[in-house]
Amino acid sequence: MNGNEEKNRIAKLRSEIARLREEYHVKNNPSVTDDVYDSLTRELKILLQKYPELNDINAPENRVAGKPLDKFIKVKHRTRMLSLNDVFSEEELLDWEKRIKKLLPPLLYKGRGLGGEVYFCEVKFDGLAVSLIYENGIFTRGATRGDGFIGEDITQNLKTIHSIPLNLSPLLSEEGAGGGDLNIPQFLEVRGEVLMSKKTLIALNKKNEKEGKPLFANSRNAAAGSLRQLDPKLAAERKLDFFAYDIAELKSSEILQTHSDKHKYLKNLGFRVDDNDAVCKNLGEVITFIKKFEKIRPNFPFGTDGVVVSVDDLKLQEVLGVVGKAPRYMAAFKYAAERATTIVKDIKVNVGRTGVLTPLAIFEPTLVAGSTVSKATLHNMDQIERLGLKIGDTVVIEKAGDVIPKVVEVLSKMRTGKEKKFKMPKTCPTCGSKVEKKIAPEKNSSALLHPSGGTFRVQNSSLAQSSVAFYCSNPKCPAKNERYLEHFVSVFEIYELGPKILRRFKDEGLVTDAADIFTLAKEDISPLERFGEKSAENIVQEIKNKKKISFAKFLWALGILHVGEETARDIATHFGTLEKLLFCARQDLTQIDNIENIGPAVSKSVGEFFNDKNNLNFIKKLQENGVLVEKMEKTKAGKFTGMNFVLTGTLAQMSRETAKERILAQGGKVVGSVSKNTSYVVAGEEPGSKLKNAEKLGVKILNEKEFLEMLK
Ligand code: IVH
Repeated sequence: MNGNEEKNRIAKLRSEIARLREEYHVKNNPSVTDDVYDSLTRELKILLQKYPELNDINAPENRVAGKPLDKFIKVKHRTRMLSLNDVFSEEELLDWEKRIKKLLPPLLYKGRGLGGEVYFCEVKFDGLAVSLIYENGIFTRGATRGDGFIGEDITQNLKTIHSIPLNLSPLLSEEGAGGGDLNIPQFLEVRGEVLMSKKTLIALNKKNEKEGKPLFANSRNAAAGSLRQLDPKLAAERKLDFFAYDIAELKSSEILQTHSDKHKYLKNLGFRVDDNDAVCKNLGEVITFIKKFEKIRPNFPFGTDGVVVSVDDLKLQEVLGVVGKAPRYMAAFKYAAERATTIVKDIKVNVGRTGVLTPLAIFEPTLVAGSTVSKATLHNMDQIERLGLKIGDTVVIEKAGDVIPKVVEVLSKMRTGKEKKFKMPKTCPTCGSKVEKKIAPEKNSSALLHPSGGTFRVQNSSLAQSSVAFYCSNPKCPAKNERYLEHFVSVFEIYELGPKILRRFKDEGLVTDAADIFTLAKEDISPLERFGEKSAENIVQEIKNKKKISFAKFLWALGILHVGEETARDIATHFGTLEKLLFCARQDLTQIDNIENIGPAVSKSVGEFFNDKNNLNFIKKLQENGVLVEKMEKTKAGKFTGMNFVLTGTLAQMSRETAKERILAQGGKVVGSVSKNTSYVVAGEEPGSKLKNAEKLGVKILNEKEFLEMLK
């Protein structure tokens, strides 16, 4: 981007951020997730570092929260309700420390006689900030944050929350701050977060769904929506919770020296304060806390989005002060976002093994869920049209757990008018042959992890509806052949042959088609540069070990158009042996039509494949070179007959491959993605978005122990 374009982008980002803030804070109805909002504000922050003259204290990104709604009485906060500066990585946390150390070097290092305990870590709740005022121990007023200066009086609604004490009744004989005999403070302003538990949200949404009411996107919106009910009875039904985390003002004989003292004191006064906290001697300990809580977070009963790190000593907090809307002495560490925004710089076209042309979005590299993403497949034209995507668009990308990054949305409000429509090329980008349009059948896909670590798609994943696909018409297209070889060795599980080695063998003329792989000898490979005797031997040995293959896998390996793993298994089960299938393809094609789950497009392509002399010669060559196709055992009906399983995450007791075989052995099926028809999702450690999908669709989820029980 040139200077002018960058300045235009700043303006665009500003207006979009202002719009999103309005949706979030005023209308209580955000259209994007927090990750997306954060991603846009980050980009703006980075751009503004380049153009400091464009900084504007009154710009939307510098305002705290939103306007109060008219329906509640407005109240002025005695002390401004601030916001927090976010940090997104250990590096940014180190930068934060560097900045504050510069402002108070000797004091911070000495830890002000606190034995070096300088930081306090606590959970960052994802709820609604409120202020509670207690006069002589009695709860007199509760308010929302509003714009930080003026909020709304929601006392009546807050009174319905059980974890908000109406009268303070200090606990006795606790250690530390407020320990011993505690007096009721003359005046106290508590800050904390109103939350709805994940469980309550699920129940509320179920109820709303039944009653045809709109669903809440997350527990924070639900909490906010509930607090804004003008009728406290309705608010009471929502089972909200409150966690206290700060004291804004205190008139009492009590002397508090640290932020951790405040926590102890609040606890002793009868407030609910979360126990996941730690006083840390240095940033190393802070990082350990952050990592520890990251593991607890998925099972934490409330929504959280990070960890608040504070300089613990209150005098030091005073020295550091506040800049803009946020204190210098606090930082909000945010966990890796699963969604982010970026710009689509280009759309390139890849040629797959069946010759299908797949558009690929090239991004301005951006960090999502802990790794940099610079491209994502767009699957097909339909997907581009569904998204309304153009080159130059700002998009939301998502990458959850083990999931390949995908474009989920176009932020069309960020358009400048210079975006370009993408058109599928008329000729193949690799070989220049004519591109043909075909109708692809309905089919789900599975993404294959190549043994080399790369991923490629075996079948297009977005063929939910029959869709148009574009193919290179040249059967000898080099790109097509290369992808095909990769697919072939992956199905044969020849792990030693990654894409790079395959390409090398092709370039050296050792392999012209997949059948040549099986005649490779040590002497062919070892003279090649960078291949020693040992690696040549390993490759040859591995190939030898993998010559025997099941009929189903063999069919899948052939790369027949529209025949993925599932379909191959259905066909293999029906025919039992390769010979029977070959015979049938010659004599009685209608048999293929009659196989369960197989539609006309698949049967047509299977018929065509086995009537093509080149393909038959290829199969013959494979067999002559030693490939042994095992006959298909009729799947025994077992206790899993008729059931579909989806596997996600890592299992401790067995590999996914073994898990799959054991399911198949008992008559079940293993499929790649979760749908309403999935019988069970087996979730191991660090499950991906499949688990979330299962939860959404109400599919039964098994942990490893339950799965092992079932297998018995
Ligand atoms: S400390 C200086 N502690 O995060 C204002 N805030 O992004 C921060 N939040 O407005 C007060 N958990 O609503 C603090 N443990 C925690 C928090 C927390 C959530 C919220 C709070 C604040 C927002 C800033």
